[in-house]
Amino acid sequence: MARADLLYELIQHGLAGEKASFRLAAEAICAEERAKQHVILAKKLEELLEQDSQSLETREVAPKPFGLRTLNGASLYQEINPSKRLTQLVLTETTVKICTEVIEEQMRSELLRSYGIEPRNKILLYGPPGNGKTSLAEAIANALMVPLYMVTYDTLIGAYLGETASNLAKLFEYAKTRQCVLFFDEFETLGKERGDRHETGEIKRVVSSLLMNIDALPSYVVVIAATNHEALLDIAAWRRFQVKIELGKPSIDDIQCWLTSFEKRMRFSFNIQLSNLAKRLLGRSYAEVEEFALSIYRQYILKGFITDTKALTKFRLNQDSSLSMH
Ligand SMILES: Nc1ncnc2c1ncn2[C@@H]1O[C@H](COP(=O)(O)OP(=O)(O)OP(=O)(O)O)[C@@H](O)[C@H]1O
Ligand SMILES: [Mg+2]
Repeated sequence: MARADLLYELIQHGLAGEKASFRLAAEAICAEERAKQHVILAKKLEELLEQDSQSLETREVAPKPFGLRTLNGASLYQEINPSKRLTQLVLTETTVKICTEVIEEQMRSELLRSYGIEPRNKILLYGPPGNGKTSLAEAIANALMVPLYMVTYDTLIGAYLGETASNLAKLFEYAKTRQCVLFFDEFETLGKERGDRHETGEIKRVVSSLLMNIDALPSYVVVIAATNHEALLDIAAWRRFQVKIELGKPSIDDIQCWLTSFEKRMRFSFNIQLSNLAKRLLGRSYAEVEEFALSIYRQYILKGFITDTKALTKFRLNQDSSLSMH
């Protein structure tokens, strides 16, 4: 049984002949049924909505590609079953707090809605490469128990005039029928400063349509955008996001925390005081610290788990510092 307020809205808009609002309510019901694992009903509703949008399109001048496929048949997103968990990441207290709040708002959205308040659903993650933007998006989807749709730009950005905007519309229309996290990695690719003189009018239109689509998203779709170049973002794009989280490079304490959890997880020891090792690794991203640790662990496995890990670690540190001098 669908939520009472949605049913009410559906009937209200249906009787008033308000097609757009009727569709929104129908999409929300579809998403809810899918979340309740009523897969068959959700699929049937989705087909009805899809047929309806196709019949609308045929009335328009140019027919658009149907389904979530572009003209050349490639998919507009990649579905990821999120397996990373928040607890597997080293995050600042503030980041954990904000994420936990948003997750709670989403999980208990019915209570909020009963007071006429929507949960927050627009998150921007920014910071230098390899410090957890993609991982955090995945962990949030995991905590919400919904799939992560990673938008793929090579198929989204079309060659023909108007194709990208039409692909974007398709993508958002599809996302609205399910509870999901819609993830725009390298968001600056799309959300770039509109004032950029080199950009054509087409790009400006795409950015406007992207922002409008983000605005119109129902709050059960969580949109997460990630960028390494926040300075390139259009101020209007920046403003859209209710939650902005900076994921910077790790401090010495953060690195030590990561190393400790690596040792525990792998049942392994570097045999070096971790606070000293962390100091030597300061300045690297989490991804680089991870690669450092794995490069030692690989050798440890290949040498039959009996090798001197302290010597291995020191060798790797010296090797890395001589590399960085070149
Ligand atoms: N905060 C963190 N805690 C623990 N591991 C991390 C953290 N950040 C990154 N990692 C590890 O580093 C690797 C790369 O991280 P991730 O892909 O999430 O970074 P990113 O910020 O999305 O990078 P890019 O900007 O290049 O897309 C992952 O394998 C992840 O396990
Ligand atoms: Mg990433």
